Amino acid sequence: MILTNKNSIVLKEIDSTNNYAKQLLARKVEEGTVVLAHYQNRGKGQQGNFWESEADKNLLFSLILYPYFLEAGEQFYLSKIVSLALVNVLKNEVDEVSIKWPNDIFVGKKKIAGILMENSIKGNSLETSIVGVGVNLNQEKFLSDAPNPVSLKQITGKEYSPRNTLNDYLVSFYSLLEKLKAGDFAAINKAYLSNLFRYGKWAKFRKEGVEFEARIIGIGSFGQLQMEERSGEISEFMFKEVEFVI
Ligand code: BTN
Repeated sequence: MILTNKNSIVLKEIDSTNNYAKQLLARKVEEGTVVLAHYQNRGKGQQGNFWESEADKNLLFSLILYPYFLEAGEQFYLSKIVSLALVNVLKNEVDEVSIKWPNDIFVGKKKIAGILMENSIKGNSLETSIVGVGVNLNQEKFLSDAPNPVSLKQITGKEYSPRNTLNDYLVSFYSLLEKLKAGDFAAINKAYLSNLFRYGKWAKFRKEGVEFEARIIGIGSFGQLQMEERSGEISEFMFKEVEFVI
């Protein structure tokens, strides 16, 4: 383990930076501590999936936060700014960056980054948050059965530094966090919607194995996906209740 500064821990190999961050939480580490790994042998994706990342190729980190200022019902705002900061960083390099609801980061129709947030709640407030982020930077071949991965290098042909990308990310994230702390929910909502994949566009989705056509018309305050179906019916979906047909 190499301690680069008081807030960042760099690991050569670990099961998952989120798991390591969880252990640090038990020791009440400082807010803003970042766990960065060169390789994860059991990287965690959403829904119990494995997050594939070849050693030394990509950005893999977990950021520890104590977001007491947010009510439990407002936690999706944290997810929104975590995604928006990624969009800001990636837009400096490539076009067509968007957020596929709730928090996958896409370039065109391919996934370039994933987010796994593990929050805890105390009373009516968020107590801790582990913000786990994986960004595909330099990997050129993906072996797992993840549906549509892509890396920055596959698009631009350039090599990227995980460290510099992390620094750029943190600058953007903390500026958005200030907005959130100041209660500027409207600006965050606007930015989230304007970067949302397929927002307002008729497209195919799937619920309970059945495909249907709909368009996204909004996001509820708890992060629910609000959609209009072709029939005119308005529906709301929680995470995992609906899939995008890509
Ligand atoms: C997803 O399935 O889209 C979420 C992927 C999250 C991956 C990152 S990599 C760093 C952190 N540690 C983990 O084990 N997972 C997250």
